[in-house]
Amino acid sequence: MTATIADPRLSGRAVKRIAFDEETIAGRVAELGAEITEAYPDGDLLVLGLLKGSFIFLSDLVRKINRPIQVDFLVAASYGDAMVSSGNVRLLYDPETKLEGKHILLVEDIVDSGKTLNKLMALLEERSPRSLEICALLHKRIADELQYETRFVGFDAPHEFLVGYGLDHAENFRHLPYIASLQ
Ligand code: PRP
Repeated sequence: MTATIADPRLSGRAVKRIAFDEETIAGRVAELGAEITEAYPDGDLLVLGLLKGSFIFLSDLVRKINRPIQVDFLVAASYGDAMVSSGNVRLLYDPETKLEGKHILLVEDIVDSGKTLNKLMALLEERSPRSLEICALLHKRIADELQYETRFVGFDAPHEFLVGYGLDHAENFRHLPYIASLQ
């Protein structure tokens, strides 16, 4: 069903539905923060946000992790303005922080084809971290080729093009406080 949601942030664009509202997201992010806090009782923990899509999720998540952490970023791009993954993942920014000997938690907004993670996890593994895990807010569960388990998952995502809470279409809609399915 297509509904026009009266939200000035959508600039008149119709969205099919709100897949995850603000309250639902906030509740699950708090749970993930608690899960992560419990999973790392000791050692240095470096939370690596994969930009740009994870910027809102990351900022909410780190404030729910109740232990010392370091935060740094990775910038990769695969989709460009298209609605399907090109598989051509480019690393545009590399973390400045040392990875060796630390627990590394790579934070993603969404796992779709898994191509981005396959490429980045292989690259991070080479830097001898103490452990290396993935936290994704959304997981489409279609990544047959994904070679890594996603240890922390917020929600199983519908097989639709999702925007909001950091996710974009051609850099639009990242600022929506909810996650919507684009028409
Ligand atoms: C999107 C998303 C994930 C990746 C998932 O990033 O943020 O990082 O694609 O897709 P995959 O599992 O099929 O590889 P995008 O390249 O659009 O960049 P962005 O984070 O800057 O929006």
